[in-house]
Amino acid sequence: MNQTFGKTDLTTSSIIYGCMGGAGAFGPQEEKDSIEALQEAFNVGINFFDTAELYGNGYSEQLLGRALGDKRSEIVISSKVGRANMAPDDLIAACERSLKNLGSDYFDLYMLHWPNWNVPFADSIGALKTLKEAGKIRWYGVSNFGNLDLDDALGLSDISVNQLPYHLFCRAIEFEVQPKCEAAGVPIMCYSSLMQGLLAGKYRSLQDFPVDRARTRMFDHRKWPDAVHGEDGAEETGQQLLDGLWTLVEETGLSMEELAIGWLKSRPAVGGVIVGTRNGAQSRGLKKLLDVSLDESILASLTDLSDPLKDELGSDIDMWGKGRTL
Ligand SMILES: NC(=O)c1ccc[n+]([C@@H]2O[C@H](COP(=O)([O-])OP(=O)(O)OC[C@H]3O[C@@H](n4cnc5c(N)ncnc54)[C@H](OP(=O)(O)O)[C@@H]3O)[C@@H](O)[C@H]2O)c1
Repeated sequence: MNQTFGKTDLTTSSIIYGCMGGAGAFGPQEEKDSIEALQEAFNVGINFFDTAELYGNGYSEQLLGRALGDKRSEIVISSKVGRANMAPDDLIAACERSLKNLGSDYFDLYMLHWPNWNVPFADSIGALKTLKEAGKIRWYGVSNFGNLDLDDALGLSDISVNQLPYHLFCRAIEFEVQPKCEAAGVPIMCYSSLMQGLLAGKYRSLQDFPVDRARTRMFDHRKWPDAVHGEDGAEETGQQLLDGLWTLVEETGLSMEELAIGWLKSRPAVGGVIVGTRNGAQSRGLKKLLDVSLDESILASLTDLSDPLKDELGSDIDMWGKGRTL
């Protein structure tokens, strides 16, 4: 069932389709698969699509326009401006470029992708307001804004969203950011909701995860070449969580995706859960996630299972530990 997104007038599905993988973020990707993935996501009932200028340097926005351009009035589209383009003139030019890529004259939602402390936040907000007044964006917000950045954002403007990493293997936002979003009525768009596939029921061991995805702070930087955060990780605790999830899959008969997404949907301030797919078959698999709702006892088990990893990893909301958030 669709819902009103925060304080906006947008009516959106609980699952948001994430366009990053379709632009090749997870390795070689056939264009026909990306197009079919988008169209099948729409066909199963998803009406909200999330992209960014950075995904394939505009290619993701182009693909979305090609796949679903004829459905423009039926869908909600969010995009994000990269941190290199936060100065007002750059931001406005980036938005216009992105709209051209998409083949539309407006975005429903437009976000600052990451904080950029070299540009006064008020300047970027000013540009967003200009775009809104011109009708080029309907609502605006931020992404990856941590505790202190969020204070700035909330002090300056009425933001409509904070897009954040949030899933059973990464609960850092719960320490400070999520309560602040909840208090301010700012909905959270959760990203990497399936932990880039680790929560899609394909892996029994963390050691089997593709090396180029094992980059988050959970992974030991000494073992995984793409983990550039320099931290020791929390692999033993992460593996215990994965084992516990498999046990819960067997006990409940639910898939790991249903457990992962059902849990996220129950969390405070969550306005939508982004999931990315690589092909039409995976998108058809999203249908069962649209209405998933878990019993309180299962939700409590999931929270308990993931508490130790949450505590061990702490409150750094940059999932990859690159120091990009405050
Ligand atoms: N704001 C930000 O900074 C930010 C950062 C990251 C992501 N995002 C947003 O969040 C979206 C999703 O996050 P994500 O791309 O990190 O990954 P995700 O949604 O956590 O995981 C995507 C992966 O899950 C697997 N999967 C999905 N559905 C499946 C199914 N039905 N059956 C089997 N496997 C399935 C696929 O793995 P395989 O590839 O192995 O098939 C897919 O590539 C992005 O597209 C983007 O819109 C935003």
